Amino acid sequence: MSSNDLDGRRAVVAGGSKGTGLATARRLRDAGAEVVTIARTPPETADPRFVQADLSTPEGVASAAAAVAELLGVPDILVDVVGGSRAPAGGYAALDDGAWAQELALNLFSAVRLDRALVPGMTSRGSGAVVHVTSIQRRMPLHDSTLAYAAAKSALAAYSKGLANELAPRGVRVNSVAPGFIRTDGAELLLARRMSEGGISREAALEDLMQVLGGIPLGRPAEPEEVAKLIAFLVSDRASAVTGAEHVIDGGTIRTL
Ligand SMILES: NC(=O)c1ccc[n+]([C@@H]2O[C@H](COP(=O)([O-])OP(=O)(O)OC[C@H]3O[C@@H](n4cnc5c(N)ncnc54)[C@H](OP(=O)(O)O)[C@@H]3O)[C@@H](O)[C@H]2O)c1
Repeated sequence: MSSNDLDGRRAVVAGGSKGTGLATARRLRDAGAEVVTIARTPPETADPRFVQADLSTPEGVASAAAAVAELLGVPDILVDVVGGSRAPAGGYAALDDGAWAQELALNLFSAVRLDRALVPGMTSRGSGAVVHVTSIQRRMPLHDSTLAYAAAKSALAAYSKGLANELAPRGVRVNSVAPGFIRTDGAELLLARRMSEGGISREAALEDLMQVLGGIPLGRPAEPEEVAKLIAFLVSDRASAVTGAEHVIDGGTIRTL
């Protein structure tokens, strides 16, 4: 892989301070891009390219978009990585309106609103690349604690496809990346929740999760850097004819076509 194929590109990674987003921001920087990251918690060492905002709210997105415009102008690359599930276990009945609203705000509206703020600059210029990070749960929803999350990711995938159809004639490519289990802080939080709710060890929670997924044929979760490599390819000119596609990276977890 060429190390400077994003030289001079301006990129935004929403959710770029941990896990997959952090790995993506590093990968894009290594490839030569100027990268602004957005998250709620600032890094320990001050970073002038970091924007603090809660992207699950309209106000947070508006302030982040204004900061991006000031720091970068119109970005060439937008990667929407923000997401995760904070809903309680217990199946559909445990999900009240508040839990649904929270899962949709974090996993769907964060990307929808940020795109609405940043994509118009890309279409006016006639170029750009957007990636939405969904999940294999959009195709194989787990019902115990992540049903609303899965539904939100499904909506994000449909939105992503429609947006790609709309923007391709205007020079902007849109793709989605659907990971299976990735070894990240976010995955650790999910394991911790399963440990405390089930009164089980980390190993048992991990085993349980792998089993719920039906096993991972590759025998292991993906590393954040492996997902970052796929995203870096999709936003580069090497993927110049790739748009409107969903790219599954799950070690073979989804067994069907
Ligand atoms: N890990 C997995 O196994 C897995 C599997 C399938 C799909 N995915 C998807 O892949 C993406 C990344 O997952 P991950 O495990 O790498 O996540 P992660 O380790 O939990 O990191 C999430 C990132 O998003 C930021 N973030 C979270 N909520 C935010 C908010 N309201 N506003 C702004 N920033 C926010 C976090 O920083 P702050 O907390 O400081 O805000 C952090 O930078 C997510 O969309 C997730 O749904 C993950």
